[in-house]
Amino acid sequence: MSERTLVLVKPDGVSRGLVGEVISRIERKGLKLVALELKDVERATAEQHYAEHDGKPFFESLLEFITSGPVVALVVEGENAIAAFRQLAGGTHPVEKATPGTIRGDFGLEVQYNLVHGSDSPESAEREVKIWFPSL
Ligand code: RTP
Ligand code: MG
Repeated sequence: MSERTLVLVKPDGVSRGLVGEVISRIERKGLKLVALELKDVERATAEQHYAEHDGKPFFESLLEFITSGPVVALVVEGENAIAAFRQLAGGTHPVEKATPGTIRGDFGLEVQYNLVHGSDSPESAEREVKIWFPSL
């Protein structure tokens, strides 16, 4: 079933010049770009986006990191887009979980600096698209 997912190229991906690499992989997979914007991230936006992690030991450093520089936010559409992008991204930890061939597996070393975000369910996708692209 065709669906939408919210993707972020996190501040490390933007500062390292990996935006084109990420977009290229999304396009080569056959997914379609529906929206794309370079954005500075307000703390309130980051808190909303990562609300499920409020209270966890890494929450504060996650917020600091995600607000540390611009991100590229995208809405991506296609068959199984949510799972398809998470497959492209690889597991959360770039070395312990992600495998080579994935974005995190190819370009990351540390769990905080794992380059990209992708929604993890249809409910998350709907919620996150509203946060980043209220007009969609
Ligand atoms: P994301 O939401 O960013 O796409 O990542 P994810 O689904 O693969 O992982 P999630 O469990 O949602 O965690 C969100 C982000 O928090 C950071 N994290 N740090 N220090 C730690 O143990 C730890 N665990 C998670 C990661 O940057 C992860 O992407
Ligand atoms: Mg997540």
